[in-house]
Amino acid sequence: MSNKKTIIITGANRGLGLALTEKLAAEGNTIIMVCRDSENARKVFKSLQSAGLSVVIKYADIAIPQQIDTIFESIYNEFKSVDVLINNAAINIDGEKTSLETLSLETIEKTFNTNIIGSMWMSKKALPLLKNAAEGRIINFSSGLGHLTVPRMGPFPAYSISKTAVNSLTHYLAEELKDTNISVVSVDPGWVRTDLGGPNAPLAIEEGIDTPYWLATVEKDKLENGKFYKEKSVITW
Ligand SMILES: NC(=O)c1ccc[n+]([C@@H]2O[C@H](COP(=O)([O-])OP(=O)(O)OC[C@H]3O[C@@H](n4cnc5c(N)ncnc54)[C@H](OP(=O)(O)O)[C@@H]3O)[C@@H](O)[C@H]2O)c1
Repeated sequence: MSNKKTIIITGANRGLGLALTEKLAAEGNTIIMVCRDSENARKVFKSLQSAGLSVVIKYADIAIPQQIDTIFESIYNEFKSVDVLINNAAINIDGEKTSLETLSLETIEKTFNTNIIGSMWMSKKALPLLKNAAEGRIINFSSGLGHLTVPRMGPFPAYSISKTAVNSLTHYLAEELKDTNISVVSVDPGWVRTDLGGPNAPLAIEEGIDTPYWLATVEKDKLENGKFYKEKSVITW
């Protein structure tokens, strides 16, 4: 049996999602890139395809569940199983100085529609394909800002609360799926120099994908199901 995997990555056109796509595809895995329809996404996909990598692109705004439904119609037709779903796409649009008092309803809705409802709906739609894999895995991108048991590191109310909800999704889904072949984990990649992380972050993108890459590829017996990871170790919620 081949050890090459089929992996869905949301937000695969830039930042950590693109770096993970490049690294995992370079090792012979097939990556289903879920990206918003944009010039950048089309360009990135073409260049990976021209490099001979096994990549497929599905255009969806994950904040719109109907678009997720549409791409899964074609994914179900093209793939019998998927080994890993990486819920990477997210936004942080709160602004540095935002508090709940100044936050707009639009920001709350956009953030939750993308960061938590998008990841929940992606997970739901991927489940039948993950169940068909020898061993399925869901990796949810959380954040240090999503902690519930350590002091918050910054303002960003909508982003922080959405990432706590992502951790809750991991916690819940791991329990729901505990008697299946599917493991579910959360990851904090650390503070990384991407568009989202900004130029002052201490980690380069290569360092930021270290733990997510490890979680996607490590043997199942080295993984603790339903846990929150940072630097390849389980951390507190
Ligand atoms: N960078 C950090 O310091 C840091 C720290 C902790 C956690 N994280 C988490 O790590 C993950 C990746 O972050 P990043 O730093 O790589 O961010 P990034 O550079 O801003 O990239 C975000 C990606 O998500 C996509 N995306 C956003 N909204 C989307 C939507 N509605 N539908 C489809 N795709 C969408 C973007 O696509 P477009 O190009 O179309 O916008 C882009 O590809 C996120 O979950 C983030 O919360 C990052």
